[in-house]
Amino acid sequence: MKHTKFTFFALSLVAVLLAGPVTGIAQPTLREIRASPPEKYADCLRCHDYEDNHHPVNIKPVGKMTFPLRDGKMTCITCHHGDHITGGRFYLRGGPYSQSRDICGKCHLSNGHAGVNPHVMLDENGAVRKIIGGLPVCIICHVNTPDPETDRTEDVQFRADVGFLCWRCHQPMANTRFLHEHFRMRPSYEMRQDIKKNEEAMNVLIPLVPRDRVTCSTCHNPHQEGVILREAAAKGADTPAKLRIPSPRLCVVCHAIKL
Ligand code: HEC
Ligand code: HEC
Ligand code: HEC
Ligand code: HEC
Ligand code: HEC
Ligand code: HEC
Ligand code: HEC
Repeated sequence: MKHTKFTFFALSLVAVLLAGPVTGIAQPTLREIRASPPEKYADCLRCHDYEDNHHPVNIKPVGKMTFPLRDGKMTCITCHHGDHITGGRFYLRGGPYSQSRDICGKCHLSNGHAGVNPHVMLDENGAVRKIIGGLPVCIICHVNTPDPETDRTEDVQFRADVGFLCWRCHQPMANTRFLHEHFRMRPSYEMRQDIKKNEEAMNVLIPLVPRDRVTCSTCHNPHQEGVILREAAAKGADTPAKLRIPSPRLCVVCHAIKL
């Protein structure tokens, strides 16, 4: 491992030298990556900080697996081709897929969660509902049960990236064009300033988790009313589409448009 690290360090040094006088770290372009032998880019985490908050990796799956494992464990290249060319969008194994969610069925039962509605979180006494195995319902999405008194968006840990959590049960939104325009988008600096201002003015939380990007829970509040105590973060719970603010006011939180 040490040796590999050193090799990559050396490679990046070469890249810096070749690039001439550079500011900061020289990142290869996608064109350069595609032109190089795949093993040169095997260390995905060097460029993509995706070990947390993506799909879980470094786990040993149970049962038969058609995709490749390393030492019996899932890694980035279990699902992705390592060459930045093959597989279509996102270089997914078995791809191209018309939508990313189609790859899930290669390992997960499409009805694995059938009958579980994780948005029903409290029992008739107002206590956190238990699911199969006696575990609190929260752990369908969170690593541990968060404490609504103290935990904020920055504190809670997820079992996977928010998108992956929701896709476990949901098809992509019916309005795919709208989703495509928003999902994974990083608002500009100006828009983030507007969001901050409007969050305060409208007393609502518009969380950009993780990586300051728009995700499902930016617009939707998946919690049942009564779970989240902070007023701004609790908005939208249990409303029909679980929108944090009814549309079209929702749009105005981010877009400086007049209605
Ligand atoms: C030397 C840096 C580097 C390494 C190492 C690297 N990548 Fe990339 N990767 C990039 C760059 C640059 C892009 C293009 C980013 C963009 O277009 O926004 C990219 C794009 C991607 C994309 C598509 C992103 C998108 O939004 O369409 C995926 C998926 C990806 N890489 C996965 C991997 C995996 C898996 C590995 C390990 C096998 C890996 N990368 C190794 C630099 C790297
Ligand atoms: C279980 C399968 C799976 C594993 C394991 C996995 N990915 Fe992905 N990855 C996906 C899927 C599916 C998408 C497309 C998501 C989408 O449509 O937004 C994706 C998208 C990406 C993207 C581009 C989209 C984005 O969020 O910017 C990058 C970069 C990426 N993966 C890198 C990695 C790296 C690095 C690892 C290892 C730490 C990894 N992936 C492990 C399934 C996987
Ligand atoms: C290569 C096989 C593979 C693919 C493809 C795959 N997963 Fe997984 N996934 C696993 C394994 C193995 C685990 C960990 C064991 C477990 O808990 O079932 C896991 C765990 C998860 C978790 C963490 C929570 C949980 O149920 O343990 C989520 C959420 C998840 N996957 C969603 C997805 C989604 C969404 C896709 C498609 C975009 C996908 N996975 C594609 C194998 C896969
Ligand atoms: C369907 C997935 C899902 C389930 C189930 C879930 N959560 Fe969450 N939770 C999220 C997401 C996504 C966020 C990040 C967005 C946000 O801050 O509201 C979050 C954020 C939070 C926060 C931070 C809110 C803040 O004030 O910033 C708390 C506290 C929390 N959850 C508590 C819980 C508790 C307690 C349970 C179980 C009773 C639970 N969650 C069940 C998805 C879920
Ligand atoms: C374990 C499965 C599961 C997970 C995970 C899950 N949901 Fe749901 N969701 C459901 C079920 C079941 C319903 C109720 C369906 C109904 O009312 O017809 C639902 C309903 C919804 C609705 C209302 C649907 C409508 O037609 O009005 C929204 C919005 C929603 N979920 C968003 C999310 C988001 C966002 C996430 C991720 C943070 C998520 N869900 C995670 C199972 C899930
Ligand atoms: C930029 C805001 C935004 C983002 C991001 C977003 N949604 Fe939506 N979502 C909406 C709006 C607006 C509606 C339409 C509500 C209505 O019909 O009144 C909706 C509707 C839905 C519905 C109800 C049924 C349907 O398909 O229309 C579900 C389920 C849903 N979204 C899930 C998701 C999931 C899962 C993600 C992440 C992959 C996501 N949403 C991302 C704003 C958003
Ligand atoms: C959380 C912030 C957020 C919310 C809420 C939101 N948007 Fe966006 N929207 C964005 C971002 C980020 C983009 C990506 C392009 C950009 O940066 O302007 C985008 C892009 C778009 C685009 C594509 C055209 C373009 O400017 O690139 C349209 C159309 C759009 N949004 C309409 C809406 C409507 C209608 C709503 C309400 C239903 C809405 N948005 C809610 C953040 C948001």
